[in-house]
Amino acid sequence: MMTQDELKQAVARAAIEYVPAGIIGVGTGSTANFFTDELAHIKGKIEAAVASSVATAERLKKHGIRVIDLNEAGEMAVYVDGADEITPHMAMIKGGGGALTREKIVAACARKFICIVDQTKLVDVMGKFPLPVEVIPMARSYVARQLVKLGGTPVLRAGFTTDNGNVILDVHNMNILDPVAMETEINQLVGVVTVGLFARRGADVCLMGTPEGVQTLKR
Ligand code: A5P
Repeated sequence: MMTQDELKQAVARAAIEYVPAGIIGVGTGSTANFFTDELAHIKGKIEAAVASSVATAERLKKHGIRVIDLNEAGEMAVYVDGADEITPHMAMIKGGGGALTREKIVAACARKFICIVDQTKLVDVMGKFPLPVEVIPMARSYVARQLVKLGGTPVLRAGFTTDNGNVILDVHNMNILDPVAMETEINQLVGVVTVGLFARRGADVCLMGTPEGVQTLKR
């Protein structure tokens, strides 16, 4: 039996094949950490990396990989990151690690989003994993009331501040039947910085770790 960590490591290794020479966007979380560690083996090939969080930037630097600012990088070919849930249509919930805003920004600058997950992340309908929403602190209660109207149960992530100085509401009980519509609707709420639904711009490739090997799902 392969452990969940072994499945994550296998997809991290598989993702290396998608890394072009040049600048690479790197995500956040335990699966992305395995990917960062794999990147260290091919660091001669990479010009620089753009990190989606302070934690990832530190890990990259520890491996001797140059980290550059997104504004300096401009566009890049590939962004590699994990997800908390992903559908067969490549829509994702992200933000379990709280880095959703920077993740979405870096992903927006990448031509290809490679999602690396173990098979426990694949779902038909998203929402079992509480949906993270990054909110400007003074708008916390207002946004929470609006999310209740949308059918959710928002819970403030206790003792947590994002890299951008904001708070996270984890929204439970959301049955996300139309991820694109829900992303658009929550994006509209004033005070919301980012919703952890990545559906309007989902993944292009999903590498999924299973005990039978790494499966590749494409859009
Ligand atoms: C970080 O903010 C998240 O979007 C991560 O990508 C997500 O939580 C996946 O993390 P794991 O790879 O640790 O499950």
